[in-house]
Amino acid sequence: MNRQIILANRPVGAVDSTTTTLVESPRPSCGPDQALIKVGMLSIDPTIRTWMNDAPGYLPPIGIGDVIRSSGAGVVVESNSSRYNPGDIVYGMTNWQEWVLADDQNKFTVLPQGMGLDLATVLNVLGVTGITAYFGLTDVGQFHEGDVVVVSGAAGATGSVVGQIAKARGARRVVGIAGGPEKCAEVVESYGFDDCLDYREPHLARRLHESCPEGIDVYFDNVGGEILDAALSNIAMRARVVLCGAISQYNEMKNARGVTNTSMLIMRRARMEGFIVLDYSSRFAEAQLELAGMVHAGSLVHREHLVTGLEHAPDALNLLFTGGNHGKTLVVVDEDVQLG
Ligand SMILES: NC(=O)c1ccc[n+]([C@@H]2O[C@H](COP(=O)([O-])OP(=O)(O)OC[C@H]3O[C@@H](n4cnc5c(N)ncnc54)[C@H](OP(=O)(O)O)[C@@H]3O)[C@@H](O)[C@H]2O)c1
Repeated sequence: MNRQIILANRPVGAVDSTTTTLVESPRPSCGPDQALIKVGMLSIDPTIRTWMNDAPGYLPPIGIGDVIRSSGAGVVVESNSSRYNPGDIVYGMTNWQEWVLADDQNKFTVLPQGMGLDLATVLNVLGVTGITAYFGLTDVGQFHEGDVVVVSGAAGATGSVVGQIAKARGARRVVGIAGGPEKCAEVVESYGFDDCLDYREPHLARRLHESCPEGIDVYFDNVGGEILDAALSNIAMRARVVLCGAISQYNEMKNARGVTNTSMLIMRRARMEGFIVLDYSSRFAEAQLELAGMVHAGSLVHREHLVTGLEHAPDALNLLFTGGNHGKTLVVVDEDVQLG
């Protein structure tokens, strides 16, 4: 059988027990030009919450009754396709289920073996969040040596990598924004940022000014809302504001709060630009090469937050919104699926 998690109701606010249902369907059989994949690990990403809304996005909403859309990794157990061999560890859109078919509509990437990296590290640093951090900073953010960089969501999968790439490439100062003293300490002590500000404390805009008195050259925004506003009030001339994510708004799409400080973009002749990592799919290898090199050199600290069991995927998703995750959130569906 194939255990699957389907969308039962569109959530209003956070995902709860009425949002999804665990169902059992027959295991799919492998037809011509298809490969059957046993899912090992799911990448839990905030964007999954946006796909649950019946709202315009960069992909269509997940339909009611459809398996929750998600990327992940698995092992090929049977193949009628020249692209895949049994035993290959592959990455692609697994969705929240135990078995998935690869075919022309749903292509997977065969992951190289012998990289000296485990599957969780690959899904973190060489996966969506690491690549997002890389292109968001270097391409959208037009980062230059000597820049002052501020990153929200700094203790998370994307933010922690942004700050470390900026440091490695010669940022003058890298400041994180995160929730609570424990996460702020982690951002400075583990990830090597120069400072980290707790957004739960008052007067964030003033504290940003104290930490970055000459202004922010690159603000990498993972959060949106009031935190984006506080950063905008501190941008430097010709600043680049990178709109990567707006997690503070995803549970509240109908009551999203406006950003009021956009006039600072005029005063500082600054640029604010959103992007989706898929825009860079033809260049993923460029990011992966640099990030893998940093991991091997010991200059990129990474942390994975593993949640075991397909049935816990909805709880894992909610961790991203409560801040209960430390580093990249992954669900282990089958712990035996590993890279050699
Ligand atoms: N544009 C793209 O292509 C792309 C690709 C990947 C990710 N993203 C975006 O990047 C952001 C980070 O994703 P991720 O996968 O790396 O997740 P993550 O940072 O590992 O986890 C999400 C973090 O967001 C913080 N957060 C949650 N609610 C918040 C709120 N109301 N205010 C402030 N912070 C809040 C929490 O940290 P604290 O404990 O510090 O509050 C939580 O740990 C998301 O917005 C995501 O949508 C965009």
